[in-house]
Amino acid sequence: MSKINRRTFIALSVAGAGVALGTSCAIGQNSKQTSKSPIAGSSLHQSRDGLLELDLEASSGAVDLGGQQAYLLSYNGQIPAPRLEAKPRDTVRIHFTNNLSQPTNLHYHGLHIPVTGNADNVFLSIEPGERIDYEFMIPQDHPAGTFWYHPHRHGLVAEQLFGGLAGLFIVRGELDEIPEIQAAKEEFLVLQDFALNENGRMLSSNHTSAMTGREGQLITINGQLNPTLSLPANGLLRWRILNASPSRFYRLSLENHPFYLIATDGGALAEPVEISELLLTPGQRVEVLVRGDRNPGQYSLRNLPYNRGGMGMMGRGMMGGRGMMGGRGMMGRDDNTPTVLATLNYDKAVEPVPLPTKLLSIPTLPEPQQVRRFQLNHGMAPGMGMVFLINGQPYKSDRIDTQVQLNTVEDWEIVNTGMMDHPFHIHANPFQVISRNGKSEPYPAWTDTVLVPRGETVRIRIPFRDFAGKTVYHCHILDHEDLGMMGNLDIQV
Ligand code: C2O
Ligand code: CU
Ligand code: CU
Repeated sequence: MSKINRRTFIALSVAGAGVALGTSCAIGQNSKQTSKSPIAGSSLHQSRDGLLELDLEASSGAVDLGGQQAYLLSYNGQIPAPRLEAKPRDTVRIHFTNNLSQPTNLHYHGLHIPVTGNADNVFLSIEPGERIDYEFMIPQDHPAGTFWYHPHRHGLVAEQLFGGLAGLFIVRGELDEIPEIQAAKEEFLVLQDFALNENGRMLSSNHTSAMTGREGQLITINGQLNPTLSLPANGLLRWRILNASPSRFYRLSLENHPFYLIATDGGALAEPVEISELLLTPGQRVEVLVRGDRNPGQYSLRNLPYNRGGMGMMGRGMMGGRGMMGGRGMMGRDDNTPTVLATLNYDKAVEPVPLPTKLLSIPTLPEPQQVRRFQLNHGMAPGMGMVFLINGQPYKSDRIDTQVQLNTVEDWEIVNTGMMDHPFHIHANPFQVISRNGKSEPYPAWTDTVLVPRGETVRIRIPFRDFAGKTVYHCHILDHEDLGMMGNLDIQV
């Protein structure tokens, strides 16, 4: 591991989004702070007359990140990438060009669309300089929700995501039509972390604990450091939050304000759930409402520490509960202090908006026709070094690991016997969590990525509907996925 000199270290900590809590009162004096709208960096592409069509180009180069120049990977030069919005029945047509120096492709995380052809097909490899037209339809019964797109070329996923390649894919529908939600002020928060040197260049993966999952100290929301967001006094705010980081978990809390959770990965809950903290693993999304019922003022959105485990003897229990390489970012920075990610400001008062009492119903799934067990762990493989395993095996592209029948419901019991937490994700087929360590879930929800903490067992129920073909499931700490924690899933007619 190469050394980082002290000057670089200081530059990084100052540039780091980690504004220590004690200094949050100095935010107003921060010259880098602009009043830009938080989505100023990204364009919006909405469907019109049943069609969402756009050109999308992946390239590397200089972009603006928090008011400074950074050399990253981006779609259409934007961090985060353009926000796409469509409705059920719309056709989506993306003219994609790969101007990266590596192969890549596009995955539509959370969308329930075909996994074959030029749709959500992660087995496509678009070579440097190549173009492809992606085309698919959003099914008529597709739930409204917060989905996203990112590269999924196996072996390069973490690297490309960490370069910045990620954007929101919003499906509008029933949830958006609930009157209280319609009256809320809608805001999108894309969380990304970066590891850059003082020249704005990406640090090599040696500096970012790629083995346990790379993290960077520069945490951005919509490509900005500590942006100011606003909330109408008496009103409601609807935050739609995406964790687009390859490995970093976010544990969010908002000073003096509870969150009212209204949607998870797969869309609406049955009713709002009051919650004081949000834990978002890589890949996960939530939608929350915030009520503007406190004293008008400034409130911090904080990221609280979370220990997701580490390697071998360096895991839980040693080093004061933190892994030495436990994915706590680089350079041994102490991550035990909460950091401020954004500042919420009260705006002019509006007519009071109540919370919705009911959202959308969530069906109870039928008993499973099949129960399977997946064991997550890591180990050393001769010639490969550290590998991440599902049922003792690292990923192999030509092996079918799991064969399921279309139009059946299955229970998967996912057991984590390792020393690191793993967020387990299945493509194109949302599921419900049934129980954790045998304890049933407090409320039903649709999700596509579930945290399986080390030492724990999570049982999920998955209906395989509509689309046959080959796709994947994997750990959404994308270094783990690239290092083998993925399986091929064949959905047969
Ligand atoms: Cu965001 Cu294979 O997924
Ligand atoms: Cu996915
Ligand atoms: Cu993992």
